[in-house]
Amino acid sequence: MMRLRATGIVAAVFVCGALALVRPAAAETVLITGANSGLGLEFAKQYAAKGWTVIATHRRHDMPETLAPLAAKYPNLRVEHMDVSNIEDVKASAAKLKGVPIDVLINNAGVYSDRSACKSETCTGAGDTQTFGNLDYALFDTIMATNVRGPLIVSESLIDNVRASKKKMIIAISSTNGSLSKPLPGPQGIAYRSSKSALNRAMQLVAVKEKEEGITVLMLHPGTVVTERLESNRGQPNTVDMEPSVTGMIKIIDKATIKDTGRFLQFDGTTAPW
Ligand SMILES: NC(=O)c1ccc[n+]([C@@H]2O[C@H](COP(=O)([O-])OP(=O)(O)OC[C@H]3O[C@@H](n4cnc5c(N)ncnc54)[C@H](OP(=O)(O)O)[C@@H]3O)[C@@H](O)[C@H]2O)c1
Repeated sequence: MMRLRATGIVAAVFVCGALALVRPAAAETVLITGANSGLGLEFAKQYAAKGWTVIATHRRHDMPETLAPLAAKYPNLRVEHMDVSNIEDVKASAAKLKGVPIDVLINNAGVYSDRSACKSETCTGAGDTQTFGNLDYALFDTIMATNVRGPLIVSESLIDNVRASKKKMIIAISSTNGSLSKPLPGPQGIAYRSSKSALNRAMQLVAVKEKEEGITVLMLHPGTVVTERLESNRGQPNTVDMEPSVTGMIKIIDKATIKDTGRFLQFDGTTAPW
């Protein structure tokens, strides 16, 4: 009787051990800002398909119709409201996420043009209001509040979540439009281009500060991407589709270590010009 019980215990221990060996490691979590269109939506799709827990955030009043089918398809994807230009709004979202470790925080939300008159989701927004002599300062403020202040507010508000995670990464989707060492194609885009230069400097400083916490901060240039709103990029030299751009950036994120913190990289893994 004693021998039988002992054999049973050994068998149970063996089975439990085997289960522990085959059980997959807890999935990592990614939070993406501006996840309802373009690159943010593609990040959400690819991370959800990889089995990560995805927190897809957007600034709309209602569930965006681009995110609803994703949330229905993937139980590992949740949709949250977060307007990155609004401090109170970000703080309220962060309070809801208190205690949730975030392995990779992707500051993707960005504004590059005046879409205020847009009637369709795919409208680019037009008007040459970012050239000296014809500057729209309200647009300038919106672009700065979204592209520079936004990633800082979001990163500060969620820093405990990133610190509590395993991967501990903060990503800023930047652009070589902010590269001071690159030849300029023309005088246009003052607000957008300045915002990406400022974003790079701001995130470099976050990288220096958070290195002691083991947090890796990267600035990524996605390439000149053909998105729903930038169909106009199609056919231009050196453009890339959303899927390979985001696949490339995810590969970089997977491989990066604390030694890479503060780097500015292009989606193909090469160093971007400062
Ligand atoms: N596409 C390119 O070629 C390219 C190149 C270099 C860098 N980038 C950068 O890549 C990022 C994504 O751009 P994209 O081309 O995918 O543009 P997109 O399709 O216009 O997506 C931008 C996203 O940001 C959101 N957003 C704007 N303001 C916001 C706010 N205050 N709070 C929260 N979300 C906000 C937009 O939401 P709404 O739908 O509500 O407007 C949208 O979901 C941007 O940072 C952009 O500067 C893009």
